[in-house]
Amino acid sequence: MSLPREVRIVEVGPRDGLQNEKALVPTPVKIELIDRLGATGLRSIEATSFVSPKWIPQLADAAEVYSGIRRRAGVHYPVLVPNLQGYERARAVGVEEIAVFAAASEAFSRKNINASISESLERFAPVLERAAADGVRVRGYVSTVLGCPYQGEVPVADVVRVATALHRAGCYEISLGDTIGIGTPGKAAAMLAAVAAEVPMAALAVHFHDTRGQALANILACLELGVAVVDSAVSGVGGCPYAKGASGNVASEDVVYMLDGLGIATGVDLPALIDTGRWLATQLGRETGSKVGRAA
Ligand code: HMG
Ligand code: MG
Repeated sequence: MSLPREVRIVEVGPRDGLQNEKALVPTPVKIELIDRLGATGLRSIEATSFVSPKWIPQLADAAEVYSGIRRRAGVHYPVLVPNLQGYERARAVGVEEIAVFAAASEAFSRKNINASISESLERFAPVLERAAADGVRVRGYVSTVLGCPYQGEVPVADVVRVATALHRAGCYEISLGDTIGIGTPGKAAAMLAAVAAEVPMAALAVHFHDTRGQALANILACLELGVAVVDSAVSGVGGCPYAKGASGNVASEDVVYMLDGLGIATGVDLPALIDTGRWLATQLGRETGSKVGRAA
């Protein structure tokens, strides 16, 4: 078994986690969450999303949140951007890294961003051009890489095609998202291997939702292939309002616990992360979604 020595965690709780919360989370709670996460040693924290507030009302306060956080040196705070309008809103408050998001499933692309896959790639082209000119780093997501709530099976070739297109368009990293947590380790590994034949492994990340309890097993299978960037959400919050049945992201605490046990460095202080997950759960009025957080 050959595993990476170091893994970078991309904490997506403040964005992927909170976007699915029905009750509005107060802006100061979002800001405190990001600041607490920044103190745990995480180097990438996806802060919010400059999408249409009609589509994701929970993150309508993106500008206030981004303006309110205490940005730490050495920590990146990417935000989701669906189009030029979102890019401009993000830049107006000083955003230095963005993420664009496409899908491998045509049906999901329509539901999530009201565009076909090719229309979405065309829509991102000017965003990527502007970002390159402005020195803004761009991450790319491919959703529904192991299955789609509307279309069912998603051919691996479609994942490879969209990931390659985003990488060629200038995304420094492509995050492969099992949006509805439907994958199993063999399928996850086969999908990653197929993408890695076209996009360098060093430019790939994996993003698992834990809907069916497969996320850690899927992550381990992908680590064995050499992936060294893992997306996760503190307290296991998360889901996508446009993906029926999508439950939380894999909990960051559980991922860090597994990586610590494997001797893989993350730079993250696990007790501080557990505290933050419990604090967030209290704010949301529920128990933490992290098994490690519950056991500690
Ligand atoms: P549309 O309705 O087709 O957009 O939505 P439009 O261009 O026709 O504009 C309609 C209205 O929205 C206009 O306002 C625009 O100004 C406004 P009106 O004239 O009606 O008053 N608008 C905006 N306002 C603020 N910021 C913007 C913006 N853009 C348009 N950026 C659009 C198209 C892409 C905007 C919409 O579908 C959208 O925002 N979708 C986002 C959905 C979303 O955030 N989903 C969750 C994230 S993806 C995910 O979770 C998966 C991931 O985690 C990976 C995984 O798990 O696999 C990443
Ligand atoms: Mg997600």
